[in-house]
Amino acid sequence: MLFEIFDNLTEMNKKIPAKKMVQAQAGKTKIALLKNQNEKWIAFKDACPHLQIPLTKGELTDDNCVLCTFHRYKFSLENGEEVNGKNTSPLRFFALFEKQNKLFVEIADEDLIEKDEFSF
Ligand code: FES
Repeated sequence: MLFEIFDNLTEMNKKIPAKKMVQAQAGKTKIALLKNQNEKWIAFKDACPHLQIPLTKGELTDDNCVLCTFHRYKFSLENGEEVNGKNTSPLRFFALFEKQNKLFVEIADEDLIEKDEFSF
């Protein structure tokens, strides 16, 4: 399913600098968005594969990774894998599409959140 993330990509490119994570919403699914060092937008599920803490609360590292500050698992932004050999799933990347100065994200059905992640 496609979700519109930004309705004015030119404006967002000016507002959000490279290597800064922001959280966006696709339905009820929270996604982390950032421009990598090549100024290309990437998106992944904003939930640490370890215990689902939002990765936008973590840190971007100089070696192109995102560090979850909760238990310090570190994930490559190139392939999503945890780089220190921790036994966990990789980041879940989402495809992004630009059209008519808008940015869209494609979320597979299995990644759509039907209820709040932290509700029981
Ligand atoms: S919740 Fe991210 S490392 Fe544990």
